[in-house]
Amino acid sequence: MPVSIVLGTQWGDEGKGKAVDYLADRMDMVVRYQGGNNAGHTVIAEGRLLKLQLIPSGILYDHITPVIADGVVVDPRHLLREMEDLRRMGIDTGRLIVSGNAHMIMPYHLELEKVTERFLGKNALGTTKRGIGPAYGDKVARIGLRIQDLFDGKIFREKLEVVLREKNLILTKVYNRLPLAPDAIVDEYMEIAERLRPHVADTFSVIHAALRDGKEVMFEGAQGTLLDLDHGTYPFVTSSNPVAGYALASGGVSPMEVNRIVGIVKAYVTRVGAGPFPTEQLDEVGERLGVRGKEFGTVTGRKRRCGWFDAVLGRYAARLNGLTELFVTKLDVLSGFDTVKICSGYRVGGEEFADAPPHQSLLHNAEPVYEELDGWNEEIDEARSFEDLPKTARAYVRRIEELVGVPLRVVSVGPAREQSLPVA
Ligand code: IMP
Repeated sequence: MPVSIVLGTQWGDEGKGKAVDYLADRMDMVVRYQGGNNAGHTVIAEGRLLKLQLIPSGILYDHITPVIADGVVVDPRHLLREMEDLRRMGIDTGRLIVSGNAHMIMPYHLELEKVTERFLGKNALGTTKRGIGPAYGDKVARIGLRIQDLFDGKIFREKLEVVLREKNLILTKVYNRLPLAPDAIVDEYMEIAERLRPHVADTFSVIHAALRDGKEVMFEGAQGTLLDLDHGTYPFVTSSNPVAGYALASGGVSPMEVNRIVGIVKAYVTRVGAGPFPTEQLDEVGERLGVRGKEFGTVTGRKRRCGWFDAVLGRYAARLNGLTELFVTKLDVLSGFDTVKICSGYRVGGEEFADAPPHQSLLHNAEPVYEELDGWNEEIDEARSFEDLPKTARAYVRRIEELVGVPLRVVSVGPAREQSLPVA
């Protein structure tokens, strides 16, 4: 059973790009299964710094077929820009394939998200404003345009005109904005169609052919488990399902094919945008984590909120995704603290919770119960094996392993490939 799934276990930005890149060596195919260009993977390989938002990280390897599956929302303008940026860096994007069933982020999605977020005022979600929510909304409402519509000009125009009739009323009458002209969009998108044509494929059949031939297929999630539309901290979530289960729905693959589910765990926790975050540190601890961890959003440049590792949410992610192993990232950021804390439970109004509470108001009011462990002073980014790490650093990640209840496979201490240390 050659299918593995790699995903973030927190609120995104766990360093998945790096983990996927590390694991990609043994893979034949890497499939992105949800989200859009709201994600931001930073990959450093062979001295090159790459920021990938939509294209799967496996693009770096000549032997890998990178796939964008049905459940992703694709902004075709962005996709072409990202491909062009990669090409300029000398990376071949010719192998990239995109599902014709994937929905498109259209210009009116971007326009509408801008005005609706503003309209929400202090209740704004703090989205990345890439049109993700409006595009998934139209998909569910069955008025979305798919990549395959690009290749039938008549259908494309027909669908666009129907949608724009409503969208333009909302833009002009509700939000006092200018309407969008279908002609300009049709012209632009018909040109885009020709440039995308060589990359559009029946990804379902391509994935199944790879599985039939015994190839290794890895599904790559974006965002993180706690941003999941159904299982995350709704409404402060993204509009797709980063959980492992959705990889199968998106790629059209049976759960019976999966044998490995890797959870990427940052050694502490960060979050961008609004929403509950029990272990957030609003003092010099949070500040230090942010500065040392360079915690600024890859997509929006926003400062990320930072806090101690939360094992309650770690256990929740382990169960939700059926994790088979942990990949811990950014342990080097924790050097220099006298003690380091792990949240092992919550207290809410006298009641103790070992697991994620069932009602979001409880999570909003949750007071973390911390275990305090000895820290380590030395910088650890030059460690090249797990045994090179100070004893207290090893004890810290071993405690995470124990509390989350999933075997630890790799600990990373820096952005470069050689800074990923396998754990025996
Ligand atoms: P959206 O995905 O742009 O709709 O944003 C919804 C929420 O998800 C916001 O809080 C964003 O900051 C957050 N979000 C979306 N993508 C990412 C990501 O890749 N990393 C971290 N947070 C993200």
